[in-house]
Amino acid sequence: MSGKRIKKTVKKEIEYTVSGEPLDFYISEETVGYGTQKPYSLYYDNPSHSVKLLKGDCIKTLNQARENSVDMIFADPPYFLSNGGITCHAGKMVSVNKGKWDKSKGLEEDHEFNREWLKACQRVLRPNGTIWVSGTTHVIYSVGFAMQQNGFKILNDIVWYKRNAPPNLSCRYFTHSTEIVLWAAKNNKSKHYFNYPLMKEANHGKQMRNLWHFNEADEKQTAENVWTISAPLADEKHFGKHPTQKPLELLRRIILASTKDGDLILDPFCGSSTTGVAAMLLNRKYVGIDSEEGYLELSKKRIEEAIKKPSVSKLHKTA
Ligand SMILES: C[S@@+](CC[C@H](N)C(=O)[O-])C[C@H]1O[C@@H](n2cnc3c(N)ncnc32)[C@H](O)[C@@H]1O
Repeated sequence: MSGKRIKKTVKKEIEYTVSGEPLDFYISEETVGYGTQKPYSLYYDNPSHSVKLLKGDCIKTLNQARENSVDMIFADPPYFLSNGGITCHAGKMVSVNKGKWDKSKGLEEDHEFNREWLKACQRVLRPNGTIWVSGTTHVIYSVGFAMQQNGFKILNDIVWYKRNAPPNLSCRYFTHSTEIVLWAAKNNKSKHYFNYPLMKEANHGKQMRNLWHFNEADEKQTAENVWTISAPLADEKHFGKHPTQKPLELLRRIILASTKDGDLILDPFCGSSTTGVAAMLLNRKYVGIDSEEGYLELSKKRIEEAIKKPSVSKLHKTA
């Protein structure tokens, strides 16, 4: 036998330091970590309802935030669709361009961006926390691959059917009428939370499938229970509309399925804060980040309106 030594690499268990106070999500002003430049500004802070809106780039902001501090993340990232194309809105031909933030920088750079923000989200997720990411065919494969590269454990791909999807004007494709939401745990060791009984009960006693369809009655119910001041469309006009606003019912179901009362929810691309509105109505804590001030203002208005409303029932309408 040769005298060669076999080197054993002993894998070190990762130690998590979970912060005691969940809303201490970001490092406080006094912390030395920022150097000269703070990566965000506090746009809105309402401690009595546990909600904060931060203005800044989500990657830089999250890289300065406490690790292992967030229970659930919902992310609706840029789909990189603003490439000068056209679509149909309210029967009219309109540009698909949503803003500079939605412009593609090419396949590889877009994928690198997805890897980076997902890595930043993974760091702040608690060990048993989960992340939901919505996307269409244009971005979701990159997101899924980036999740696998980063070591997330993909739990489900939810297909969400959009009943009122706009027609395809070119008539060279099928109508895009679905979106995918990927649900993933922080890593393979995570013991993620799933409110299986509630989802089953909401689905009339049957296991809920990964195919979601919100019908007219659900939307009406949502309007009645959530938008009590006026119908959703009037509300949207009143506050202004985000070009890629998600339906409240989608976020309600996601939050009910994967979080408990009082949990902290983060939305790194919050836009008009549909996530924040659902979080307020369901008694969860919320931190939203967006780089655009106009969207944060819209978020603030919607959140303040939601705060004034009574919490919605947990069981009505989720199937
Ligand atoms: C698809 S929209 C989210 C819409 C939101 N789900 C809603 O219901 O209103 C994406 C948002 O991400 C913001 N954004 C894009 N890149 C960002 C970045 N690097 N950091 C923070 N926000 C960003 C955009 O300003 C935009 O409002």
